[in-house]
Amino acid sequence: MITARYQFPRNFLWGTCTASHQVEGQNHHSDWWHWEQQPDRILHGHRSDDACGWWDGMWAEDMDRARVGSQNAHRLSLEWSRIEPHPAVWDEDAIERYREILQGMLERGIEPMVTLVHFSHPQWFIERGGWLQADSWELFERYVDKCVRRLKDLVTMWVTINEPNVYVYSGFVEGVFPPGMETLGAVPVVTGNLLKAHAAAYRAIHAIQADAMVGIAHHYRSFKPANGKNPLDKFAASFRHRAFNAVFPEALRTGRIQLLHWRESLPELVGTQDFFGLNYYTRETVDVDLMQPDKMLKTGNFPPGADVSPGGFIANEPEGFWEALTWAHDFALPIYITENGVEDPEDNIRSRYLACHLRELWKAANFNWQIKGYYHWTLVDNFEWERGWTQRFGLWDLDPRSKIRTRRPSADFYAEICKTNGLSAGSVAEFAPEVLDRIFPGRGTDALSE
Ligand code: GAL
Repeated sequence: MITARYQFPRNFLWGTCTASHQVEGQNHHSDWWHWEQQPDRILHGHRSDDACGWWDGMWAEDMDRARVGSQNAHRLSLEWSRIEPHPAVWDEDAIERYREILQGMLERGIEPMVTLVHFSHPQWFIERGGWLQADSWELFERYVDKCVRRLKDLVTMWVTINEPNVYVYSGFVEGVFPPGMETLGAVPVVTGNLLKAHAAAYRAIHAIQADAMVGIAHHYRSFKPANGKNPLDKFAASFRHRAFNAVFPEALRTGRIQLLHWRESLPELVGTQDFFGLNYYTRETVDVDLMQPDKMLKTGNFPPGADVSPGGFIANEPEGFWEALTWAHDFALPIYITENGVEDPEDNIRSRYLACHLRELWKAANFNWQIKGYYHWTLVDNFEWERGWTQRFGLWDLDPRSKIRTRRPSADFYAEICKTNGLSAGSVAEFAPEVLDRIFPGRGTDALSE
């Protein structure tokens, strides 16, 4: 008889998450659509094309998959460029389509969490300067106001902006997202406007819907000094944490930005989060090469012996997740894990990655921290931004041409977790036996077969 299990709190939300541009297809008015048409922007020249066919109705069959998999929540995003394809011109049909999708989720017992901007923007917004423009936050506020008025009977959980730090880094430091700039000087301007946009959206939402829950999906990456005794490595890791992880959430907590010579006061930000959305994927090691000081800002390596995903992008580092949870807990807000997952086409690592991360999440919930939900990235393989179709994060495999979905074994594992609201030794033994001893110490395979 197998009894060992990690049980999650009652009413816990278990879901998956998606983003409009990655699943809908044919987002002709978005900056990403334009970006994809340019040479060398996307790996192998891939394009989103019809993506997962959601705009043509395939959201419904995917939501059936989520429901059959016992999920009770889903985080999706609205495509600003569909709702407002031209400045202040609203596409009511697009809004109706979103109403239909949200209604369809609710009918299936799936509670939506809606992100208002997830990396993609109307092309007109970008052409007039995007987030570099002083009035960008007001344009965003106008769009948010429209969305909330039209959808407030269907949605109460809102994420204003997805991973603003990743957006700033990828769009303005690394240049791999549109607008493709590598201009450090743009960072404070864009950051300030995104923060103002969030605060304005927070207030606009609450003015319309008093019981709304509003937050940001913050991306946390754990940075570990390669050599814990080397002061330069330590400084670089701590700097990257402060620059990448902390600027946005700390500004929202304190109303200030303080990083090296960058000082800004934005008191209107304080108190504009009802929950803390946490996206966590991996931990990396940071070392300083004095011959290449600019590398300090670039993606580093993984800890020696790390359990790395097939494409080499993500290491299964649950200790980094624990660090992220501890850090997020300090903000004293309810926490939703708004993204967590691994690219893994053959499903070799996903189940153990899930088991190891959920064990850490359970620990936090068991400490009575306010852990409210977990959204796995993602349900079905989708268009992975500048890496096109090369990265497979889905519980379900997708053939982008035929649109045929095929369930991966980890989908069954996740369904078992969602159904039982917990992680059991039996399911870990079945789906990720290689980590059973690590997750249930003393409940090894022998003990289970007794
Ligand atoms: C996140 C992003 C998602 C998805 C995921 C996996 O940073 O919010 O849209 O791409 O990474 O790479």
